[in-house]
Amino acid sequence: MLDAAKRLITASARSDVAPFMVMDVMAAAARLEARGRRVVHMEVGQPAAPAPSSAIAVTRAALETARIAYTEALGIPSLRARIARHYAESYGLNLDPARVVVTTGSSAGFLLAFLALFEPGERVAMARPGYPPYRHILTVLGCEPVPIEISEDTRWSITVESLLAAHRRAPLRGVLVASPANPTGTMMTGQALADLVAAAEAEGIRVISDEIYHGLDYAFAAETAARLSERAVVINSFSKYFCMTGWRVGWMVVPPPLVRPIERLQQNLAISVPTLSQIAAEAAFDARAEMEEVKHGYEQNRRILLDGLPKAGLDKFLPVDGAFYLYADVSRSFDFASRMLQEAGVAATPGIDFDPVNGKHFVRFCYAGSAEEMREAVSRIGDWLKRS
Ligand SMILES: Cc1ncc(COP(=O)(O)O)c(C=O)c1O
Repeated sequence: MLDAAKRLITASARSDVAPFMVMDVMAAAARLEARGRRVVHMEVGQPAAPAPSSAIAVTRAALETARIAYTEALGIPSLRARIARHYAESYGLNLDPARVVVTTGSSAGFLLAFLALFEPGERVAMARPGYPPYRHILTVLGCEPVPIEISEDTRWSITVESLLAAHRRAPLRGVLVASPANPTGTMMTGQALADLVAAAEAEGIRVISDEIYHGLDYAFAAETAARLSERAVVINSFSKYFCMTGWRVGWMVVPPPLVRPIERLQQNLAISVPTLSQIAAEAAFDARAEMEEVKHGYEQNRRILLDGLPKAGLDKFLPVDGAFYLYADVSRSFDFASRMLQEAGVAATPGIDFDPVNGKHFVRFCYAGSAEEMREAVSRIGDWLKRS
């Protein structure tokens, strides 16, 4: 009887995915703060700035006047059209709004894309280090994540050679690219992305491009896979550039034959995306100037870290091209992140979250906070490294 009861409450094997270690760092930081210590937070990858004022205003008005009902599964038509216009404005691409799908953050976009593209057992490549949910969502769906190690030799991105080498070992069905990337903050050049998309498609490998950090590029402009191939699946979100993490709204650009399958999936999995968030998202596009101000803040923060960290004693990090991350090589110490939190009061994410193999040598700093916090972090790290 006891055994039978136990069997009823045992979680499935496929739900056995790793937790996000950054949550442990946040909890440790909160404990320090509860004891009266001040902590500079650079662990969580989200903007400190609020949502665009246009988005907030339109949401308030909608609460008073609109009926917050279900929307069409693919999203409010005017939002889909506005997203399509964004491609014309930002990339010079004439995009059919019928190919735009509104999603509950880019997170739901991955689920929909993987379900629509892959059968259980199929192999999908992604960079290591990389954003952990890519591999965890694939695992949950019974697909096989295939991490491709990236390094300085390949400018910290998947190259045609590394993709084809993995494909030769055992055939791949898909590849996931991200530029700018999390946790590295590095970007692929437009040419590198074009070469990768062409090589992948020539081998029958489906391309998914996570473009959630588009708009936050400092070294050069990010290219969209949508301009390179109508067969690529593009995933994006209002979370980062538009500072709307908690609104849970994003979008996909999908090949025409996938629109209807994804519509059917969304109808069944979610019915539709939260209506207020869709209304807010459409208005967010009117806040370009406000968002560019926020981006200038990140640029200033980036400068503070690029100048300050080497002087503080942290002088090995990847090119800080985009997003709001700096991925530092701290191979001198395995418990660097936890010691930095305890002894310097600076919270950052241990690289092991993003790379189970080499991540112990790295720490990810998020520079989406204020310039004041960046200066304080640099000075605390400098003092701490001098002491230790
Ligand atoms: C690379 C990357 N993709 C996707 C996401 C998910 O974002 P959201 O679901 O809020 O759109 C994140 C969040 O941190 C991310 O860093």
